[in-house]
Amino acid sequence: MIDGRARRYLVTLAQGKQFHSHLGALEHDELIGGPEGVTVRTSGGSSLTAFRPTLSDYVLKMQRGAQVVYPKDAALIVMYADIFPGATVLEAGSGSGALTLALADAVGEGGLVISYEVREDHLSRAAANIEAWHSGSDHRPGRVDLRSGDVFDGVPERSVDRMVLDLPEPWRALGAGTESLAPGGILCCYLPTIPQVSQIVEAMRRGGFGLVSTFEALVRTWNVEGQSVRPDHRMIAHTGFIVTGRKLAENRA
Ligand SMILES: C[S@@+](CC[C@H](N)C(=O)[O-])C[C@H]1O[C@@H](n2cnc3c(N)ncnc32)[C@H](O)[C@@H]1O
Repeated sequence: MIDGRARRYLVTLAQGKQFHSHLGALEHDELIGGPEGVTVRTSGGSSLTAFRPTLSDYVLKMQRGAQVVYPKDAALIVMYADIFPGATVLEAGSGSGALTLALADAVGEGGLVISYEVREDHLSRAAANIEAWHSGSDHRPGRVDLRSGDVFDGVPERSVDRMVLDLPEPWRALGAGTESLAPGGILCCYLPTIPQVSQIVEAMRRGGFGLVSTFEALVRTWNVEGQSVRPDHRMIAHTGFIVTGRKLAENRA
């Protein structure tokens, strides 16, 4: 729900329940069965407009164990890591499950996302977030297989199409961890700082990866009202850098 000041509230509707906020109360039953985009009034006289949440609405409001990959970055990871329908993607760590959800949508019904996480509390949080989104949505995402484990030790999967790492020391996964990736497959790492970027890029170049590329995404929203057409004063500036590379085959020469 969105209020008159563009504040957003994520509400799971249930018959007979009420939504309470500083704006007053609203009966869920007023919305259940009604159209999306409807505006209703709270007991305090404020208006709220209701929509089903998009995936980006959801990941920014769901409960977090670990910091999530922001939608602007998840969108680019899906494109630049070439997460295609039917792909098998190996991910680590699952964290809060935000990126897992974007990957599962991109691989679609015939695809699979295998996601490893070392922390049991994060794994449970990711599982709960993924279950809540998938059970309430009409989309047909790929299968998500959440696994407890340390990707640095190597994992049993072989010939996966894509590997996506959002963890602090991804270079430790090169070797045993990236054995899972098929030649030609894409490794994509998401990292918040430049020293981490230097380390992974050097390690990828030494460790059998080509076409290594690094970039970041700055998305600037605009205020468009009458004569006031300008960039918004605030933006999400730095989140993380995205590094991609392709696994090379053994040389024949
Ligand atoms: C920043 S969070 C990932 C957030 C996630 N991408 C999301 O969007 O919700 C990093 C996660 O990696 C996990 N992690 C760190 N090292 C790991 C390893 N070697 N194997 C598996 N998971 C690991 C951490 O426990 C943490 O939950």
